Amino acid sequence: MILFFAENGQEIKNGFLKSQNKAGTSNIYGEEQMALDKWADEVLINGLKKTRLVRYIATEEQPNIIEIDNPRNQFGVVIDPLDGSSLIDVNLAVGTIIGIYPGTVLDKGENMIAAMYILYGPLTTLTFTTGNGVHDFVMGEKGEFYLTAENIRIPDGKIYAPGALRKDYLPAHSKFIESLENDGYKLRFSGSFVADMHQILHKGGVFTYPGIKGKEKGKLRLLFEANPMGRIIAEAGGAISNGKKDILSILPDAIDNITPVYAGSKKEIGLIERYTQELSV
Ligand code: F6P
Ligand code: MN
Repeated sequence: MILFFAENGQEIKNGFLKSQNKAGTSNIYGEEQMALDKWADEVLINGLKKTRLVRYIATEEQPNIIEIDNPRNQFGVVIDPLDGSSLIDVNLAVGTIIGIYPGTVLDKGENMIAAMYILYGPLTTLTFTTGNGVHDFVMGEKGEFYLTAENIRIPDGKIYAPGALRKDYLPAHSKFIESLENDGYKLRFSGSFVADMHQILHKGGVFTYPGIKGKEKGKLRLLFEANPMGRIIAEAGGAISNGKKDILSILPDAIDNITPVYAGSKKEIGLIERYTQELSV
């Protein structure tokens, strides 16, 4: 299955040379879709329909769960076909995020059996876990992947990648950011969750897209973004939280659930959970 997505990652990477026009339609979150989002979505869905590798497919670009006829397995997959796609027109790094479940996709992140992402930067890299460590690969000229790092552990590091506007911060989040800044954390936010998380995985620190005034549930998608990336960061010795508890323990009730996200080293995740608790009593 990981091979299936790796092979299609090469096709998606090649697709960047194709049309970059706006598709003129919206996804279920009301965001304008780039043509490449839709195209990458179709490549993966059509490939999975043809191979019948899985039973359920949920993607960030589709309003409903797709069920495959005569599946060869009972797996459910969650897909963000092109994360950070607003950066395509300025040639910044974007990615594909995948999570694989034993069955239904409306399951807790902790029950995921594999999670992976492909990052299309100067190099195309593949990072995955099947619950047996986190490993990095780089794509070669013919689409083959070479192992570059095995059993990655998130190091201590002072990087923070904070999404959202400061004027909209809620009290615990303000205190958290102030504490990181006083402690000398360096700002690194690109607008691509995959790219920002890849940096945190390798350099340490924390990514956050918090709940904010008027949007207390945040922005990022529980199924397509938070859970697969959370599964990877947790497997590498880090953690992911909504500010109160482990995101991987949350049972989704719909595919479009969103959540505040704090993901990185356990130290920073412990800090935001402590501030949330202190400021809510
Ligand atoms: O898919 C959502 C996303 O593009 C993430 O990749 C990224 O972290 C976030 O949105 C950026 O949001 P904003 O444009 O509000 O900074
Ligand atoms: Mn996304």
